[in-house]
Amino acid sequence: MTTAAPSTAPTTDSTHRPALLEVDGLTVRFHLRDAVVHAVTDLSLLVRPGELLAVVGESGCGKSVLAHALLGLLPGNATVTGRAHLRPPGAAPLDLLDCGERRLAREVRGRLVGLVPQSPATALTPVRTGRRQVEETLRAHGHPRRDAPVLADRLAAEVGLDPADLDHYPHELSGGMAQRLVTALALAPDPPLLVADEPTTGLDRPLVDHTLDLLRRRCDAGGAVLLITHDLAAAQRVADTVAVMYASRVVERRPADALYAAPAHPYTAGLLDALPERAFRPVPGHPPMLTALPDGCAFAPRCDRATDVCRTPPAPEPRGPGRVACHHPLLPGAPA
Ligand SMILES: Nc1ncnc2c1ncn2[C@@H]1O[C@H](COP(=O)(O)OP(=O)(O)OP(=O)(O)O)[C@@H](O)[C@H]1O
Ligand code: SF4
Ligand SMILES: [Mg+2]
Repeated sequence: MTTAAPSTAPTTDSTHRPALLEVDGLTVRFHLRDAVVHAVTDLSLLVRPGELLAVVGESGCGKSVLAHALLGLLPGNATVTGRAHLRPPGAAPLDLLDCGERRLAREVRGRLVGLVPQSPATALTPVRTGRRQVEETLRAHGHPRRDAPVLADRLAAEVGLDPADLDHYPHELSGGMAQRLVTALALAPDPPLLVADEPTTGLDRPLVDHTLDLLRRRCDAGGAVLLITHDLAAAQRVADTVAVMYASRVVERRPADALYAAPAHPYTAGLLDALPERAFRPVPGHPPMLTALPDGCAFAPRCDRATDVCRTPPAPEPRGPGRVACHHPLLPGAPA
């Protein structure tokens, strides 16, 4: 795994709060025998305390790889470049891509950055009840043994589980119950940053809303959440900021209200048009293979605004709100 040099000053917002997470130029490649998968390319984003950033995009665009890169969970055939500075409150900043597996395991995973994994079945220990797993996590993060049962019940209720459900083994749980259990496990150490990768999979609508509102409340209480979802309605319900990924890149990252009111990138507009409550018209065509991306805009074959200039790369992936990586953005005056 290769990484770039650490950055200098933290990025701050108008209230001078430093970003809790600042990712700059993150690039992930998987090296196969006869091909290279461009899973994440030159990706930059910020998450501030109190902010919920939603990362959206079609299946296979690189959302989970982003999450796994931040937590050092990629397999051996991956190379990672870029920076990902975490600035936890009251602790020294660290570059998640450069701090080493030992520090990630001891200080970061769970404690500073919680992960709600996309596949609960593989994340749970099959031979221990949910309760034992939650109580062990609580104790490992400093809670006295005598407090663990009550805290576990409280966490269960928080994620919408009946506390009695904790007494089951993972194989006795439905997909939706296992999903809520891994959410409870991620919340147990109360990390300042929670990365939630499709945390509403398998839940019915009331529980989807329950989970989303739980994430929102964490942010309103000063925490930060990076929510990965293919559900644009979910993102609209709770996100402050939305980053739209297409074929390994963020193509638009803007405040949620503005993005939903007037998408700037043609792909974002297509995703919104596909919503049942809007035009209910799917984005035509299919995403490209990440082993064979074109030099220019990867969305061009599906884009009705494409011109010759789109054979050249659009502006580098943007960092500031209100930017879009497109030669012909939809918003009048938006920079290309
Ligand atoms: N270990 C790996 N080796 C090779 N390619 C991989 C590996 N892991 C992921 N990929 C590829 O990286 C790309 C991004 O995968 P990722 O899991 O991040 O997609 P995603 O956006 O999370 O999709 P979904 O919405 O279906 O979860 C995909 O093309 C995937 O096949
Ligand atoms: S750069 Fe061109 S092809 Fe790509 S989204 Fe913009 S207009 Fe469409
Ligand atoms: Mg995924």
